[in-house]
Amino acid sequence: MNLINEIIERAKADKQRIVLPEGTETRTLQAADQLIRDEVAEIILLGNSQKINILADQLELKNIRKAIIIDPKNHGKKQTYTDLLVELRQSKGMTPEKAAVLVEDPLYLACLMIKNGDADGEIAGAQNTTGDVLRPALQIIKTSPGVSVVSGAFIMFTKTPQYGKDGILIFADCAVMPNPTAEELASIAIASAQTARGIVGIEPRVAMLSFSTKGSARHEMVDKVAEATRIAKEMAPDLLIDGELQADAALVPSVGAGKAPGSAIAGQANVLVFPSLEAGNIGYKLVQRLGDAEAVGPILQGMAAPVNDLSRGCSVDDIYRMVAIAANQAIAVKSKK
Ligand code: ACO
Repeated sequence: MNLINEIIERAKADKQRIVLPEGTETRTLQAADQLIRDEVAEIILLGNSQKINILADQLELKNIRKAIIIDPKNHGKKQTYTDLLVELRQSKGMTPEKAAVLVEDPLYLACLMIKNGDADGEIAGAQNTTGDVLRPALQIIKTSPGVSVVSGAFIMFTKTPQYGKDGILIFADCAVMPNPTAEELASIAIASAQTARGIVGIEPRVAMLSFSTKGSARHEMVDKVAEATRIAKEMAPDLLIDGELQADAALVPSVGAGKAPGSAIAGQANVLVFPSLEAGNIGYKLVQRLGDAEAVGPILQGMAAPVNDLSRGCSVDDIYRMVAIAANQAIAVKSKK
C-alpha cells in the first residue's frame, strides 16, 4: 500500500499534535509508541500518567515517556477548558457545573484541546462507540466553514485493479448520517471528492449510487439521489459527478456505456456516494469481508479539524494509520487557512 507510505511520509515532514483520549488502552499505547519512534506525530495521551507509565513498562514500550501525558482530572488548563465549554454551549443549556464534569471526560477534553489550539487532531474509538466519539466533536469542533454535514469515508484498497485507481476507491458516507436529505447528500459528495483529492491524491469521479440508473426505476429514494446530484453539480460545477447510477453502471465500462450513455463518469467512478448510512455501512463491510479488501477509515470529512473514529476491533496498525491520516488532514486544514 504505497499510498499509506506516502501519507506517513507527508505526516513526518510536518509533524502535527495528535491527541489520543484512550491513553490507557493497550493498542493505543502500542501505536503511540511506534508513532513516537517513527516521528510521525507529536503524541498527546489523555489518562492518569502513573497508570500509563506502568502499562508502558509492562508492555516494554520505551518511547511512551516522550509523549505528552495529560490527566483529565488534574492539569493546569482545567478551568480554561471549562470556561470554553460553557462559552461554546451556553445556548444549549451548558452550565459551569455540567462543564466541570464534562471536561474530565477524555473525549470532551480532546475536542476542547483542539478547539483551544492545543492539539491539531484526535483519534479515538478503540474503546468508545462511534456516537460517543462523534458527539463532542460535532458539538465543539463543528463543521468547517461552508460545510453543512460531517460524514465518514473509507479508502477501500480492493483486489480489483481494474476499478478506481489501481483498485483504490473512496466510499461514503459509511459512518455518520443515517438518512441524509438531498442537500446533505450533495454536501457528502463534495466532501468525498475533497478527500479523494487531498488524502488519496486522485482526481475524483463521483458516482451517486442508487438502485436505479438514469430513471430506470421510479421511487422517492431515486428522486432524492437525482436531486442530490443536481445540487452537487450546482455547488461544484467543475466536479466530475453523475447520478443516479447503479453500482455496476458506475464501475463497469460496458455496463456504464449501456445504461448511462454519454455520462462523464459511468464505468470509471472512483468515489462511490451511497444514498444512506445503511447502504454505505453494509456496502463497505461486504466489500471488505467478501472481497477481501482493506478498508481504511472512517475518515471524518467536513469537520473543522480532524477527529477520526476507530472500530473497537481495530489493530495497532489501524491506529497508526489513522493518526497519519489525521495528521494529513490537519496539514490540509492549516494550508487552507
Ligand atoms: N454533521 C454535522 N453536525 C451534526 C451531524 C452531522 N452529520 N449530526 C449531528 N450534528 C450536530 C447537531 O446539529 C447537534 O449540534 P448542536 O448540539 O450544536 O445543535 C450536535 O451535532 C448533536 O446532535 P444530535 O443529533 O443531538 O446528536 P446525536 O446524539 O443524535 O448523534 C451522531 C449524532 C452521533 C453522529 C448520530 O447521528 C449517530 O450515532 N450516527 C451513527 C453513527 C454510527 O453508529 N455509525 C455506524 C458505525 S461506524 C462504522 O461502522 C465504521
